[in-house]
Amino acid sequence: MSKSEIKLYYKNVMADVIGDEHGITALQLEDLGDRTSPLIARLNKERKAGKTPYRDLPYRTETAGRVKELVAEVKDGCEILVVLGIGGSALGNIAVQTALNPYMYNLDESQRDGPKMFVFDNVDPAQFASFLNWAGDKLDKTIFNVISKSGRTAETASQLMIIRELLGPDRFHKQVVATTDTEKGTLRAIADDADLQTLEVPDGVGGRFTVLSAVGLFSAAMCGIDIDALLAGAADMDKRVSREDFVENPAAINAAINHHFYNRGKRNSVIMPYSYALKDMADWYRQLWAESLGKKLDLNGREVRVGPTPIKALGTTDQHSQVQLYREGPNDKLFTFLQVEDFDNDRTIGPAPDCAAELEFLAGKNLSTLLNDEKRATEYALLHDERPCLTVLFDQVNEYTAGQFIYFFEVTTSLVGALFNINPYDQPAVELGKEATFALMGRTGDYKPECSYEQFADKIRAKTDVDQGYLA
Ligand code: PA5
Repeated sequence: MSKSEIKLYYKNVMADVIGDEHGITALQLEDLGDRTSPLIARLNKERKAGKTPYRDLPYRTETAGRVKELVAEVKDGCEILVVLGIGGSALGNIAVQTALNPYMYNLDESQRDGPKMFVFDNVDPAQFASFLNWAGDKLDKTIFNVISKSGRTAETASQLMIIRELLGPDRFHKQVVATTDTEKGTLRAIADDADLQTLEVPDGVGGRFTVLSAVGLFSAAMCGIDIDALLAGAADMDKRVSREDFVENPAAINAAINHHFYNRGKRNSVIMPYSYALKDMADWYRQLWAESLGKKLDLNGREVRVGPTPIKALGTTDQHSQVQLYREGPNDKLFTFLQVEDFDNDRTIGPAPDCAAELEFLAGKNLSTLLNDEKRATEYALLHDERPCLTVLFDQVNEYTAGQFIYFFEVTTSLVGALFNINPYDQPAVELGKEATFALMGRTGDYKPECSYEQFADKIRAKTDVDQGYLA
């Protein structure tokens, strides 16, 4: 496995390349460094004071040990692994699996070192029913990893209740691994009651920052991913993103550039991997960015309503779908490409048919060359229209570089939060929708001291029932 460092390439946001109107001048960059360096120091202090425990996940060897122990216990005979979870309890698992296992992992036994893996981070009835119909007798050989900090998330709880009924008490006990809070919460109560095997959702770490804990590590290790290398990559990135010298710290540079462009009206942040393996990292990043940075209040309680909108795209697919807008539409986006030098597998393009001599220029070239040339071509086209572009360069996609990438973006997020002077670790706006679902689904009792769940449900219906007068 190559142990190379991932790198942030930022020349193509500079005024030298895209002009003064849209680019950053050397003086501005210096100024960004002056403003960001003290925040790196502040984050380092907060981390030392135990305020950001996600920063220490790469070093929790006891967690990796417990995960491996449990994998050794349940993997044998397990043909299917199902993860039940949502948001921070699923997106990291999906991202790691897509990044580090082959595309045909589930379909081709020779390409996998573990069970088939499915993540249900939705309650779409057709999807779940189709899986259960397919699984049939194979459910006997399935391990369900239910992941929920609270255990009261309606989606995950409902799936768990379906599985519990299907499996019956004995198999529920044997086939379910619960990843949850060590002490409190509904899933902890269920796990204790059924004497389930459990793993820990670490204290004080919000779901979207948990992928390097047991939340992400168990499914990864079950599917043959080297979790030690993943954590080693993150730990090595930790050293780089803790440096208080701005120019030596890739997360600080990334954060400062993102924050700067937001303040210059580029409020959309497009992440565009040129690697299918990294496609779901873009999804993971989208939640990390949106829930962490989209905030109404700053740390002084002032209403600020900030937050860049994260947009995921995939190269080259979205060249044929989005680039028209990206080039000719409003110049309100910062682009971050993910580029891979060396693909694990490659293919050489065959000769052109005699009747299509105009395709001969492609013959004999590797697909990786085409993919990376398309990235450069798109970047060039965007630069032509003065659009700022960053690139994260991967030598290879492997456990070590994926671990670096995850940690790099987590710390970038903390730093952008510090630049906005907001709290990136809470998500107060998600609660209302969760509570409204409970009310509509018939929860009873007090929603608030002055309002029962029944009254709350009436309020919601009054606003959301279809009014026939407005149907077109
Ligand atoms: O990032 C977050 O905190 C959220 O996305 C949660 O992970 C998500 O809402 C699921 O919550 P829970 O783990 O309590 O089921």
